[in-house]
Amino acid sequence: MCGIVGYIGTQAATDILLAGLEKLEYRGYDSAGIATVWEGEVNCVRAKGKLHNLRSKLEQIETPAQIGIGHTRWATHGKPEEYNAHPHMDTAKRVAVVQNGIIENYRELREELKGKGHQFVSETDTEVIPHLIAEFLKNLPPSSSSSPLLEAIRQAVNRLHGAFALAVISADYPDELIVVRQQAPLVIGFGQGELFCASDTPAIVSYTRAVLPLENGEIARLTPLGVEIYNFAGDRLKKQPRLLNFNPAMVEKQGFKHFMLKEIHEQPGVVRASLEAYFNPAESTESPINLGLPADLYTDLEQIQIVACGTSWHAALIGKYLLEQLAGISTQVHYASEYRYAASPVTANTLIIGVTQSGETADTLAALAMEKERRQGKEPKYQARLLGITNRPESSLGHLVPHIISTLAGIEIGVAATKTFTAQLMAFYALALDLAARRQTVSKDILEKIINGLRQIPKEIEATLESQERLTEQLAHEFAETKDFIFVGRGINFPIALEGALKLKEISYIHAEGYPAGEMKHGPIALLDAKVPVVAIAIPGSVYEKVISNAQEAKARDSRLIGVTPVKDGEAGEIFNDLLPVSDVEELLSPILTVVPLQLLAYHIAARRGLDVDQPRNLAKSVTVE
Ligand code: AGP
Repeated sequence: MCGIVGYIGTQAATDILLAGLEKLEYRGYDSAGIATVWEGEVNCVRAKGKLHNLRSKLEQIETPAQIGIGHTRWATHGKPEEYNAHPHMDTAKRVAVVQNGIIENYRELREELKGKGHQFVSETDTEVIPHLIAEFLKNLPPSSSSSPLLEAIRQAVNRLHGAFALAVISADYPDELIVVRQQAPLVIGFGQGELFCASDTPAIVSYTRAVLPLENGEIARLTPLGVEIYNFAGDRLKKQPRLLNFNPAMVEKQGFKHFMLKEIHEQPGVVRASLEAYFNPAESTESPINLGLPADLYTDLEQIQIVACGTSWHAALIGKYLLEQLAGISTQVHYASEYRYAASPVTANTLIIGVTQSGETADTLAALAMEKERRQGKEPKYQARLLGITNRPESSLGHLVPHIISTLAGIEIGVAATKTFTAQLMAFYALALDLAARRQTVSKDILEKIINGLRQIPKEIEATLESQERLTEQLAHEFAETKDFIFVGRGINFPIALEGALKLKEISYIHAEGYPAGEMKHGPIALLDAKVPVVAIAIPGSVYEKVISNAQEAKARDSRLIGVTPVKDGEAGEIFNDLLPVSDVEELLSPILTVVPLQLLAYHIAARRGLDVDQPRNLAKSVTVE
């Protein structure tokens, strides 16, 4: 996903913009650029590849400009080449724009503007914006507005269809930075005599914790005198900044080589924070869980539909298992990108859950928006049955659905989701147990036993991290050049096999697939030979023996077997060539543990291959395009 930064104040803008872009690198990008206004000109510098390429270009032409915008681009329209990098300018090079999102009607606008003499130099959708602004500026009646730049931009954005967060500067209005938000996040930061804007708070938090996230349909004018906010109709809005409870250290590596490794190690703390937040009701007698959700969200529930993507979809599969096995509610899980075009029949007693750590994934937001639309005009209870599970409650998701369960992972910088996945699992344990308590589908004793088991998990994760770090690093040496990996699991650990495969493929670029262990003999076993290792998750419980026999079948095809299991002797000791031992916990709770060695294995293999673990190629931290 692209990253936007902007600055207007009393300091030199260039270094502040570069530092902000560095804090947004985790979003994934393939080119970058900065534009500033100095001595009546727009000074625009762009570079393909990583930020150090841009930095070295800037060092040769640095100016003391005190206003500017910056951008890291994740290519959607047009190759990741310098000529497509942002900022983009109008023909006269008087207006510079950076954008996150997609302009869906850019082709018609481009043709219209070309017809008016505007010359285009890129393949991007974004480039229509500076030309459109210049066109409106040219046609504004003199003194028709106290800020012609603001008015021209307001008129321009009313012509745009799609999702766009913008930051705009102009050589003719050197004291104004204009920002716009429509379906893509943008936040304003309030410093001492200086103002910031960014796609996400990590780019701002080093300078200020006073922030104001813009909402959809809002446009703001930042000047040395302060901030004015308007809607797209031009009406002035009154809004107050709020203080972020954000620790700048959270966006530092703190001695770890990569953010991903740091975030894997933060998981015990994430589980503790979740236990503290969800499992400490005030004086509730009906349920030992406190999710802050209204009771009528639960009454008469007949079914649950969950929409999500990627790792969040894997968390949703575990949520399904928990909601069905503990609360007895039929639950379906859908890829959000598919659900949008084949929505399930729902009733007033259907709860729709959207799971997205970023709260900005376009497919998930679109599926939820469709569900919200379907409910328009229906009874209030029906409309209320939309729930989001997200790590960013201030995101677009937070504005879209009436109810949110905030996961408590803290900012996750690594593109590969790790601690946010664990946080999502904790939210699903809490939701399933809450529903089970209210529907009395599980006795108080069993509830208490499960919750006590969860309270042991943080220290079990710590023990697993302690024992696995070296083991997985050693294994990584042997598998760094492997071409194919198979992960298998059954029951509540089948989604963990999927997650282990996704982690490996997305950061090491090694082909990996996850399967239900029982499915191997229905085709995939044909893939197996000595060159294809198999990771099997074998946890004592309802399916342990079956997984062991599936592992036997794989071993008979000469695959090297890696076992994620607490069992060290007997069959497990004989079958598995390598063991990734985990603590012996209840099968129901085991996914929070079994995912950890798979995260570490993927991490160490990718690190061994010398790859960019925190920003894997082609990936973005949240995918705001469809
Ligand atoms: C997970 O490691 C991937 N980065 C990706 O699959 C991610 O889970 C997916 O894009 C969904 O993101 P979200 O949770 O922010 O919606």
